Amino acid sequence: MKRFMIHSSAGDYPLLCGRGLVGRRGWLARQLPGERTGVFLLSSPRVWRVCGPALAAALDPAQPQRILFDDRETAKNLQTVEKIERALVRAGADRGAAIVAAGGGVVGDVAGFAASSYMRGVWLAHVPTTLVAQVDSSIGGKTGVNLKEGKNLVGAFYPPQLIVTDPELLKTLDARQYRSGLYEVLKYAVISDPLLFDVLERTMDRVVARDAEVLDWVVSRCARIKGEIVGQDERESGLRQVLNFGHTIGHALEAATGYRRVLHGEAVGWGMLAAVDIARQQGLVRAADADRIAALVASLGRLPRLPDRRESIAARLGSDKKAHAGRLRWVLPRRIGEVEISEDVPEALVRDVLGRLPQLFPKRAGKAARKSASREPR
Ligand SMILES: NC(=O)c1ccc[n+]([C@@H]2O[C@H](COP(=O)([O-])OP(=O)(O)OC[C@H]3O[C@@H](n4cnc5c(N)ncnc54)[C@H](O)[C@@H]3O)[C@@H](O)[C@H]2O)c1
Ligand SMILES: [Zn+2]
Repeated sequence: MKRFMIHSSAGDYPLLCGRGLVGRRGWLARQLPGERTGVFLLSSPRVWRVCGPALAAALDPAQPQRILFDDRETAKNLQTVEKIERALVRAGADRGAAIVAAGGGVVGDVAGFAASSYMRGVWLAHVPTTLVAQVDSSIGGKTGVNLKEGKNLVGAFYPPQLIVTDPELLKTLDARQYRSGLYEVLKYAVISDPLLFDVLERTMDRVVARDAEVLDWVVSRCARIKGEIVGQDERESGLRQVLNFGHTIGHALEAATGYRRVLHGEAVGWGMLAAVDIARQQGLVRAADADRIAALVASLGRLPRLPDRRESIAARLGSDKKAHAGRLRWVLPRRIGEVEISEDVPEALVRDVLGRLPQLFPKRAGKAARKSASREPR
């Protein structure tokens, strides 16, 4: 088991990562605070179906009360938070309650927000069960829900007291969800970790096949990177922005396609290809590095085809601007493992890249592209 601390203004908290942790009888129960008045397991029916036996064993004999809620993105709203909080009242939860949130990013964001506001805040542990949740959403304390007007518009910074990450739980994840999470894994390699990048280049087949040895290393490596970044910049005033690599166009693409056609990670895959191309056009990154990044994105297989929505993607980019006093912020690669934040990308270049987006997917995708990339001089 790997254990590392994540720094937060509300108090540092441990992330424990190890295969099989959540299957061990009584193990999770022993991590709960001693002076609690009750244990409440917040999850979804679907997650409970696949991870229930492991969770029940791990929490034995704490006798958690179970509150299951819909974890579809469309149910990530204030009504669901209200339902959970009313269920907590009915179940007798008071300020001494300990909440264990087990699920993907939706469960974590919703349950985390409920934990932050129930009785003005109760003890919270995350048990992430998707790849996105294990390497990203469970770490850093962002919680929240959507409004009809937009995603994640209501929420709180509420770091958990504990994160328990068990890669074994990923074995039931559907293939597309899993692969979509891998684009976020690639993101960490590009923004800060040349070694992770090399390992992914060499072992992507094994990672895709969920080979335990490589996957466990990759998950804990990414979780640690995210933990270090949010530990230095909890409120996203500076460094944390590097986590948005691939997300500027990725978010716009998701919005322009109504959040249905492409999964978040897939949109980030397209967004990374676009950002690499912008950096290449601006002479920021060497062609060899740009090619390697694009080849690694392509090694995950085809991305969903893009509808011709250049105008609406461009328009959505505009709405992202409002958050930064009228300037779009780009995260652009300088070399593998290093990015910079730039506000100097001319609109004409953005439009040009958006127009060529479908062609930015490397022609020689998959294994061949990877092999040729790994032969390039480093
Ligand atoms: N708070 C943050 O910092 C942060 C960061 C990134 C994403 N997010 C949020 O996370 C959400 C996306 O999270 P996600 O990608 O984990 O998707 P998700 O939570 O929607 O889960 C995807 C699907 O997988 C199912 N599932 C979960 N665990 C499973 C398992 N072990 N086996 C089989 N099926 C399983 C879920 O029931 C769901 O149907 C978005 O709402 C996004 O806004 C938050
Ligand atoms: Zn993301």
